[in-house]
Amino acid sequence: MTERIPTAILISGRGSNMKALIAAASQPDYAADIRLVLSDKPEAAGLATAHESGLTAQAIDFRNFSGRPAFEAALDSRLRAAGVELLCLAGFMRVLSAEFVGRWAGRILNIHPSLLPDLRGLHTHERALAEGRAEHGCTVHYVSAELDAGPIIAQARVPVLPGDDVDSLAARVLVEEHRIYPLALNAVACALARRAPAQASRPWRGGEIVSES
Ligand code: GRF
Repeated sequence: MTERIPTAILISGRGSNMKALIAAASQPDYAADIRLVLSDKPEAAGLATAHESGLTAQAIDFRNFSGRPAFEAALDSRLRAAGVELLCLAGFMRVLSAEFVGRWAGRILNIHPSLLPDLRGLHTHERALAEGRAEHGCTVHYVSAELDAGPIIAQARVPVLPGDDVDSLAARVLVEEHRIYPLALNAVACALARRAPAQASRPWRGGEIVSES
């Protein structure tokens, strides 16, 4: 068995991207091993989904800490106790400090619902519609100290269609999120393990736009 990179997923909510990553990682040739799911909110629906998949899933409730440094210290020690080497943010709604990001430099991925560097921050679907954009999409990127600004690993674009509302556009983007996040995680984990990605439908080229749909 080739080395698999011990990986944690951090969530705050429903966890549909988490579910896509877990499903991908159940394949024997996948390069990341999902060891742990953590949430900053005990009420996150994704925790139950992770349990159903047989994973260790726990809340580290932000409200139990005096502030971000104490929360991040607990998060860091839980991750290190589990032997985690790679983090995937999947709807994790807290901004991590520069200190935390520095300790995990090059080891934190995020999925963002826009074609970065466009539309950083929140409410991306609303803003894409309000600006009358013809296309929208999602981006997997490395997390850096600056919000939604780290190096891009993969993007997928979708059209904005006549009559779209926030829900219809978000649903179209989400399909692509679930497709490219597992591809990106596998590529990063393969690189960390110094092995070639398993053959997908076509060869992976890091940093490319993987969908023009
Ligand atoms: C996704 O749209 C993701 O791009 C954003 O937050 C949402 C999380 O959804 N960062 P889910 O919890 O993965 O379903």
